[in-house]
Amino acid sequence: MHIQEGQSLKSMNTFGIDAKAKYLSIIREISDLETLVKSNLFKEENHLILGGGSNILLTKDYNGLVIKNELKGISLINEDNASVILKIMSGEVWHELVLYCVENNWAGIENLSLIPGSVGAAPMQNIGAYGVELKSVFIELEALHLESGEVHTFDKKACDFGYRQSVFKNRLKEQYFILSITIKLLKKPKLHLTYGAINDTLKLMGKSKPNIKDVSQAVIQIRQSKLPNPSELGNSGSFFKNPIVENEKFKELKLNYPNIVAYPAGEKHTKLAAGWLIEQCGYKGKRYGDTGSHKHQALVLVNYGNAKGKDIWNLALKIQASVKAKFDVDIQPEVNII
Ligand code: EPU
Repeated sequence: MHIQEGQSLKSMNTFGIDAKAKYLSIIREISDLETLVKSNLFKEENHLILGGGSNILLTKDYNGLVIKNELKGISLINEDNASVILKIMSGEVWHELVLYCVENNWAGIENLSLIPGSVGAAPMQNIGAYGVELKSVFIELEALHLESGEVHTFDKKACDFGYRQSVFKNRLKEQYFILSITIKLLKKPKLHLTYGAINDTLKLMGKSKPNIKDVSQAVIQIRQSKLPNPSELGNSGSFFKNPIVENEKFKELKLNYPNIVAYPAGEKHTKLAAGWLIEQCGYKGKRYGDTGSHKHQALVLVNYGNAKGKDIWNLALKIQASVKAKFDVDIQPEVNII
């Protein structure tokens, strides 16, 4: 078990924030983690688990132990005529998994192409895009209980998935290290093409009978056209969640703002497009020092170079206050603020 001190985390978070970790431990084997959680260092220090670092904002140096997940491996657990079951270690890169499955013609996660981050982070917030969520292919996961060192298995029900939610963000927050996930993919695809621009993009690509590779490429094209690439411009995808309001509140807003963008969310609620709300407040494409809201997607906050985490957080608070003042709607960060 090797512990580094005072290491910069700049290359380990997609916002590219230059914050330091008091201690850093890189986990390549489950046994490294088992040794670490029994150590005095682990017991004495606060800890932060990092996967791809694509969903955190470091607002200061981390005064504790950062545990970087590098557990790798994909295994084919079962295969029949209709489906495959795969077990994937949590330190794998999510998008590489998607590409691997698409290459093999295993369908189910093609709409989740190009989502930044690691496999272990996917169940934490039940990642979703273009009408598909991880939940739809999920079978189970294994996670190490940090206090007892025991490995526990969670099926879909036990994960309690919701919109960008799971039990690991709520009741069991910070109690587990996810080791692997198991998913089931189909050999005969059920394509999800209804969301947003997918169909239009496929038409432009000349694909009247798309396969999963075409869908994956369409999603990649759409994402690349509006979401900045973190290796070129630091960002963490959507900074806020789309707020869910009661239908009554939505009706009231619609009267004043007929163009408001919204989607039904169950019988009594409506989900509002936070990007639209933020754009209406005048932030889209505006730069403040080295931070700002992205020109193609107001929901994405960016680091133009040397922004501090604090600068980005201050802008987020300003945006939150403007949306509240203009629409009387609360928007909450999707990104974890550290
Ligand atoms: N919109 C604006 N102005 C903007 C941005 C959006 O008016 O600056 C409006 C547009 O009408 C657009 C609608 O909002 O059609 C929805 O925008 P988009 O399709 O980009 O989706 P989103 O609701 O903003 C969500 C996820 C994204 C995911 C996309 C596609 C959340 C918080 N975000 O964004 O996920 O890629 O849908 O499924 O649910 C992420 O989580 O990091 C992420 C990027």
